Amino acid sequence: WVPDFVKGLLEPPQPPYTLAEIRQVPWGELRRDLKALVQEKQCAPILLRLAWHDAGTYDRASGTGGPRAAMQYPGGEAAHGANAGLDIARNLLQPIREKYPTVSTADLWALASVVAIEVAGGPVIPFRPGRRDAASAREAVEDGRLPDATRGPDHLRAVFGRMGLSDGEIVALSGAHTLGRAHVERSGFEGPWTEEPLKFDNTFFTNLLNKKWTLGTSSAGKPQYTDETGTLMMLPSDMALLEDPIFRSYMEKYAKDEVAYFRDFATAYQRLAELGVPEL
Ligand code: HEM
Repeated sequence: WVPDFVKGLLEPPQPPYTLAEIRQVPWGELRRDLKALVQEKQCAPILLRLAWHDAGTYDRASGTGGPRAAMQYPGGEAAHGANAGLDIARNLLQPIREKYPTVSTADLWALASVVAIEVAGGPVIPFRPGRRDAASAREAVEDGRLPDATRGPDHLRAVFGRMGLSDGEIVALSGAHTLGRAHVERSGFEGPWTEEPLKFDNTFFTNLLNKKWTLGTSSAGKPQYTDETGTLMMLPSDMALLEDPIFRSYMEKYAKDEVAYFRDFATAYQRLAELGVPEL
């Protein structure tokens, strides 16, 4: 038995994040600030990767992980290899973090990602607040919950299945690689997936289907695929969507029908962003 005041010294208090605090957040003004940041710094891709890596640790069976900004503390998830480079996104958001003291960091990251998708020309994704922050790095999950880009369909099904997400959702969410690029100093992979990495559209799927991909290695020696021009790339895990017949059928649909893709991405992304988030 440990008296409460000692517990308080051992573990910082869980930020309570009450309905009253959530109501105090000037959401419209916060959205405007995020939009201005995304436009000025052209940082839509990395803001989306930050929110996805926060949410994508979720384990439905144990209710652990999920969006709670454990990565805001040094050590823990911030030090996991999969999160290399995401300090850049956290630093970009820091002035806004300080300007809105009552919003949780996890809600801020999730909102930043939906604003980023919108600014990049993607679908409007409904945002629901209520993500409670981890109190310290001690609430970090173990390393290895996020997908490994060198692996194939079984691995993707195991990782996304653990979150409670389906085959169709895996494909829709993977289309987010229409944004941004791999950076050799962060992941060991390098290059963009599309010609316009700041535009959210379905070219990840059309490129994957229509270009000829050749297996090679990045300058850090990681296996990756390159197109005929040598400018675009695909991760081995992206190629899994082409190899697996079920994944491929979704992919062909999204390559043909951008409206269907936007609709299914919005639904899947909202689910991802709300994994384990309590009802208010
Ligand atoms: C970037 C792996 C799914 C969004 C990356 C990078 C890797 C990777 C290795 C390069 C990071 C860097 O070097 O900067 C994977 C794997 C996935 C996956 C194995 C399994 C399916 C997703 C999902 C989303 C997403 C579900 C969002 C819904 C992004 C974005 C970038 C990125 C936007 C670009 C970041 C930037 O330009 O800074 N991903 N990813 N990824 N990923 Fe994924």
